[in-house]
Amino acid sequence: MKKILITGGAGFIGSHVVRLFVNNYPNYQIYNLDKLTYAGNLANLKDVEDKPNYHFIKADIVDGEQMQALFEDHQFDSVIHLAAESHVDRSIANPMEFIMANIVGTVNLLNAARHQWQGDFEGKRFYHISTDEVYGSLGHTGFFYETTPYDPHSPYSASKASSDHLVRAYHDTYNLPIVISNCSNNYGPNQFPEKLIPLIINNIRNEKPLPVYGKGLNVRDWLYVVDHARAIDVIFHQGGDGETYNIGGHNEWKNIDIVKLVCEIMDGKLGRADGTSEKLITFVKDRAGHDLRYAIDATKLQNELGWMPSLQFEEGIRKTIDWYLENQSWLDEVTSGNYLKYYEEQYQKR
Ligand code: NAD
Ligand code: TYD
Repeated sequence: MKKILITGGAGFIGSHVVRLFVNNYPNYQIYNLDKLTYAGNLANLKDVEDKPNYHFIKADIVDGEQMQALFEDHQFDSVIHLAAESHVDRSIANPMEFIMANIVGTVNLLNAARHQWQGDFEGKRFYHISTDEVYGSLGHTGFFYETTPYDPHSPYSASKASSDHLVRAYHDTYNLPIVISNCSNNYGPNQFPEKLIPLIINNIRNEKPLPVYGKGLNVRDWLYVVDHARAIDVIFHQGGDGETYNIGGHNEWKNIDIVKLVCEIMDGKLGRADGTSEKLITFVKDRAGHDLRYAIDATKLQNELGWMPSLQFEEGIRKTIDWYLENQSWLDEVTSGNYLKYYEEQYQKR
């Protein structure tokens, strides 16, 4: 019997992690703690909300006293920490929210765990979920390894880098049992349509311009979100204490090629003539400090813990597009209200 606190479980990746743990480990009690920001959505977890081993706590990790009180009340023995502000463009517009949630929030959880566990670390684990963006930007060749020096460029990646350093510092200073993983770009169902792939899908369905930053030549390494959740399961259970694991899809794409692929698949699915959606592509002003290329070497995870991605990208992207087309009410819901204001602010000036 384990009592696991999963933070950010109502978000994109968190909801897939919560689902996997609730379904695969009925003997664990899973506590999903989430502030329900614009990115958090309990509709993502409808299928597990009535399970006896699932519990939801609405709380803000920036409130340190509340984190301490929750640890005292529930006696969590493990943490899988995903809660974060996660969108680079928002971090450029509002860095302080990222400093608070990603840095202060992480330290509050570290303090609460340390205080509650009191040096008795048997069966305890603090698992911090991070990103490959902490490593900075690659040129046209090479990969990020676990040993690659940190070199973040956006307020988002700098805040994640900072939280990674603090998690390691609590391990080295207080022996807190920690593990960290740094994953490449995720895609799949339930991703908020501010990120590239769901934004493009949503705009194609609405026949709106498809904003491509710069020349669309930046490269990302895409992983299907359920494969990330599977990696988190493996690392949580088998990862070494104090270790870092890179997670990636060996699946590099230029942004423009992804956008064209999504256009082509959606034209087919929506019964539009070939080439219809591509006409919506609009090159817009580049993102400030835009990292050119991310690419993960996930050999350590594969060799030591036996994890590999299970889905090919062609299959994953089709599954993802199908999900959004079958769940248009989810898209309608999250793109009403504040999303319109956000969209106008981000894209009108580009
Ligand atoms: P997301 O924005 O979809 O979800 C974040 C969740 O955290 C939301 O449910 C939100 O309500 C919650 N949250 C935010 N601030 C909070 C606070 N102060 N207190 C409590 N809850 C709060 O993000 P995501 O894409 O699912 O990313 C999850 C984690 O994975 C993040 O730590 C992110 O850095 C990391 N990551 C993401 C990607 C990616 O491609 N999306 C890749 C690698 C790593
Ligand atoms: P994003 O999904 O925001 O992820 P990240 O910046 O964390 O990698 O963006 C993925 C890539 O797509 C990135 O190079 C920026 C680019 N992009 C666009 O070209 N247009 C858009 O509207 C968005 C949101 C992103």
